[in-house]
Amino acid sequence: MSMRRLAISQPENFKLSASAKKKIATWVKKYPKDRQRSALIPALWIAQKDAGGWIPEAALRELGDMLGMAYIRVYEVVTFYTMFNMEPVGEHHIQLCGTTPCWLRGSDDLIAVLERRVGPRGSVSDDGKLSWVEVECLGACANAPMAQISNDTGDSYYEDLTAENFEAMLDNLVSGKSVYSGPQNTRHTSEPEGGNLTLKGEGPYVEDKLVYLPNTEKKIKMSVHGGAPKAKRKPAVKKSVAKVKPAAKASKPKVIYTDGPTDGKPDDLKKIKGIGPKFEGDLNGKGIYYFRQIGAWKAADVKMVEALIDSIPGRIKRDEWVKQAKTLSKKTSGAKA
Ligand code: FES
Repeated sequence: MSMRRLAISQPENFKLSASAKKKIATWVKKYPKDRQRSALIPALWIAQKDAGGWIPEAALRELGDMLGMAYIRVYEVVTFYTMFNMEPVGEHHIQLCGTTPCWLRGSDDLIAVLERRVGPRGSVSDDGKLSWVEVECLGACANAPMAQISNDTGDSYYEDLTAENFEAMLDNLVSGKSVYSGPQNTRHTSEPEGGNLTLKGEGPYVEDKLVYLPNTEKKIKMSVHGGAPKAKRKPAVKKSVAKVKPAAKASKPKVIYTDGPTDGKPDDLKKIKGIGPKFEGDLNGKGIYYFRQIGAWKAADVKMVEALIDSIPGRIKRDEWVKQAKTLSKKTSGAKA
């Protein structure tokens, strides 16, 4: 691991913003009066975001003053954790894992791409779009090689990288196009390529009944994942389905499985920013084919769908799928009329 030092060039008169200080104060309040330094790690996260992705020396001193810590103690923490950047970073900051599993699976090829496009470790590209460092294991070895990329939309993992898909991803980042986190091949999370080989049954929590969702197409047949596990395991769901009357009012969001779209050609869900081919496939697999379905989601539906498609919590809200879907739904129905 590299030696980490304060950046030689520091901004003049840097001060944490009022909103950052307010957030830090919230964390400080969580600890007893003589233990306020315990808030240092979240405070550093906040300071790093506030300063545009790195921690200037002035921020380090300001945190020391706020938490009653000697500056050298703050410095020790900042220099220890590679997640805190001590130099300015690019718009998209790449932390590439070079530890053994990632190395065995080709991280050297990815480093070659970064060296060619951005420069040596620790560089920022000339246009300020990309920067990169090499880091130790980020805990996603099953999907090696991988990288974490941080930008103003968050910090996400990009996995199962090859020189080719990594390069294409960098092109998209630089040109402002959507890049989807997670595996960059056909894998679903860390399942084997081509689908899971075990645990293929319906699982113990499937309720053997059919319902209708308020925001799904009429006449869609559904079987439903139940909520809390039952004391006794129910038999696996049978494929044959009897017709069941729609529930008068569904009090909880239900997740649907259908044989296919029931009202003509499915919408191109990829038009929703944040939905790529993988999420579209996952949503279709759950019986969601149309903008109007997504446009009708309530908060509880969003939460349920996020769990089912293994999306990062909060991502659907952040990317405004529901709002986008409503707009697209109006356009689609207008075009049909
Ligand atoms: S070795 Fe790369 S994520 Fe663990």
